[in-house]
Amino acid sequence: MDPLVEAALAVRERALAPHSGFKVGAALESEDGRVYTGCNVENATLSLTLCAERLAVGKAISEGARRFRRIAIAADAPTFTPPCGSCRQILWEFCGDIELLMVNLEGKTESVRLSEIFLRPFDASYL
Ligand code: THU
Repeated sequence: MDPLVEAALAVRERALAPHSGFKVGAALESEDGRVYTGCNVENATLSLTLCAERLAVGKAISEGARRFRRIAIAADAPTFTPPCGSCRQILWEFCGDIELLMVNLEGKTESVRLSEIFLRPFDASYL
Protein backbone atom coordinates (compact mmCIF):
# COMPACT_ATOMS: atom_id res chain seq x y z
CA MET A 1 0.00 0.00 0.00
CA ASP A 2 1.15 3.57 -0.70
CA PRO A 3 2.82 4.80 2.53
CA LEU A 4 0.85 8.06 2.32
CA VAL A 5 -2.40 6.08 2.29
CA GLU A 6 -1.16 3.97 5.20
CA ALA A 7 -0.31 7.13 7.16
CA ALA A 8 -3.80 8.60 6.59
CA LEU A 9 -5.48 5.38 7.71
CA ALA A 10 -3.22 5.11 10.78
CA VAL A 11 -3.77 8.67 11.99
CA ARG A 12 -7.55 8.28 11.48
CA GLU A 13 -7.42 5.82 14.37
CA ARG A 14 -6.40 8.71 16.63
CA ALA A 15 -9.33 10.94 15.62
CA LEU A 16 -11.41 12.32 18.46
CA ALA A 17 -14.94 12.29 17.09
CA PRO A 18 -17.23 11.55 20.05
CA HIS A 19 -19.98 13.84 18.74
CA SER A 20 -20.22 12.92 15.06
CA GLY A 21 -18.69 9.45 15.23
CA PHE A 22 -17.06 10.32 11.88
CA LYS A 23 -13.30 9.79 12.02
CA VAL A 24 -11.01 11.36 9.43
CA GLY A 25 -7.25 11.06 8.90
CA ALA A 26 -5.09 13.14 6.58
CA ALA A 27 -1.48 12.69 5.47
CA LEU A 28 0.17 15.57 3.60
CA GLU A 29 3.35 14.95 1.60
CA SER A 30 5.77 17.82 1.10
CA GLU A 31 7.94 18.25 -1.97
CA ASP A 32 10.94 16.76 -0.14
CA GLY A 33 8.95 13.62 0.71
CA ARG A 34 8.18 14.30 4.36
CA VAL A 35 4.73 13.39 5.67
CA TYR A 36 2.63 15.49 8.06
CA THR A 37 -0.50 13.95 9.53
CA GLY A 38 -3.69 15.21 11.14
CA CYS A 39 -6.96 13.82 12.42
CA ASN A 40 -10.23 15.53 13.27
CA VAL A 41 -10.47 16.75 16.86
CA GLU A 42 -13.98 17.56 18.06
CA ASN A 43 -14.92 19.43 21.20
CA ALA A 44 -18.13 20.20 23.06
CA THR A 45 -18.85 23.42 21.15
CA LEU A 46 -18.85 21.45 17.87
CA SER A 47 -18.14 24.65 15.95
CA LEU A 48 -14.52 24.69 17.13
CA THR A 49 -13.84 21.26 15.66
CA LEU A 50 -10.52 20.87 13.89
CA CYS A 51 -10.66 19.05 10.57
CA ALA A 52 -7.99 16.47 9.77
CA GLU A 53 -6.75 18.24 6.62
CA ARG A 54 -6.38 21.67 8.22
CA LEU A 55 -4.56 20.20 11.19
CA ALA A 56 -2.12 18.46 8.83
CA VAL A 57 -1.56 21.72 6.92
CA GLY A 58 -0.97 23.67 10.14
CA LYS A 59 1.46 21.07 11.46
CA ALA A 60 3.38 21.08 8.17
CA ILE A 61 3.59 24.87 8.07
CA SER A 62 4.71 25.02 11.69
CA GLU A 63 7.47 22.52 10.89
CA GLY A 64 8.72 24.72 8.06
CA ALA A 65 7.28 22.90 5.03
CA ARG A 66 6.01 25.18 2.26
CA ARG A 67 5.58 23.14 -0.93
CA PHE A 68 3.42 20.04 -1.21
CA ARG A 69 2.80 17.18 -3.62
CA ARG A 70 -0.15 15.12 -2.39
CA ILE A 71 -2.61 14.70 0.45
CA ALA A 72 -4.34 11.43 1.36
CA ILE A 73 -7.66 11.73 3.22
CA ALA A 74 -9.09 8.64 4.90
CA ALA A 75 -12.62 8.72 6.22
CA ASP A 76 -14.73 6.43 8.33
CA ALA A 77 -17.07 5.55 5.45
CA PRO A 78 -17.27 2.99 2.66
CA THR A 79 -17.43 5.75 0.04
CA PHE A 80 -14.78 8.27 -0.99
CA THR A 81 -15.13 11.39 1.14
CA PRO A 82 -14.01 14.74 -0.29
CA PRO A 83 -12.67 17.58 1.90
CA CYS A 84 -15.16 20.12 3.28
CA GLY A 85 -15.36 23.64 1.88
CA SER A 86 -13.15 25.20 4.57
CA CYS A 87 -10.46 22.58 4.00
CA ARG A 88 -10.61 23.10 0.22
CA GLN A 89 -9.93 26.80 0.77
CA ILE A 90 -6.96 26.20 3.07
CA LEU A 91 -5.55 23.47 0.82
CA TRP A 92 -5.84 25.79 -2.19
CA GLU A 93 -4.06 28.65 -0.47
CA PHE A 94 -1.25 26.63 1.12
CA CYS A 95 -0.83 23.68 -1.25
CA GLY A 96 -2.11 24.94 -4.62
CA ASP A 97 -3.58 22.50 -7.10
CA ILE A 98 -2.51 19.49 -5.06
CA GLU A 99 -3.33 15.84 -5.82
CA LEU A 100 -6.00 14.54 -3.42
CA LEU A 101 -6.15 10.84 -2.68
CA MET A 102 -9.49 9.98 -1.12
CA VAL A 103 -9.15 6.75 0.83
CA ASN A 104 -11.86 4.38 2.04
CA LEU A 105 -11.58 1.93 4.88
CA GLU A 106 -10.37 -0.84 2.57
CA GLY A 107 -7.44 1.34 1.52
CA LYS A 108 -8.88 1.85 -1.97
CA THR A 109 -8.29 5.31 -3.41
CA GLU A 110 -9.72 7.80 -5.84
CA SER A 111 -7.36 10.52 -7.04
CA VAL A 112 -8.45 14.00 -8.10
CA ARG A 113 -6.78 17.39 -8.41
CA LEU A 114 -8.08 20.02 -6.02
CA SER A 115 -9.05 22.22 -9.00
CA GLU A 116 -11.45 19.50 -10.19
CA ILE A 117 -13.57 19.78 -7.04
CA PHE A 118 -12.92 23.44 -6.09
CA LEU A 119 -14.03 25.71 -8.89
CA ARG A 120 -13.13 29.40 -9.17
CA PRO A 121 -11.45 29.67 -5.75
CA PHE A 122 -10.93 32.95 -3.96
CA ASP A 123 -7.31 33.58 -3.04
CA ALA A 124 -4.77 36.33 -2.44
CA SER A 125 -4.68 37.18 -6.15
CA TYR A 126 -8.04 38.93 -5.64
CA LEU A 127 -6.86 41.16 -2.78
N1 THU B 1 -14.19 16.46 8.86
C1 THU B 1 -12.84 16.49 8.56
O1 THU B 1 -11.99 16.22 9.42
N2 THU B 1 -12.50 16.84 7.31
C2 THU B 1 -13.37 17.14 6.30
O2 THU B 1 -12.97 17.60 5.24
C3 THU B 1 -14.80 16.84 6.49
C4 THU B 1 -15.23 16.82 7.92
C5 THU B 1 -14.60 16.09 10.23
C6 THU B 1 -15.13 17.24 11.02
C7 THU B 1 -16.03 16.54 12.01
O3 THU B 1 -15.26 16.15 13.12
C8 THU B 1 -16.51 15.29 11.29
O4 THU B 1 -15.63 15.13 10.17
C9 THU B 1 -17.93 15.36 10.80
O5 THU B 1 -18.14 16.51 10.05
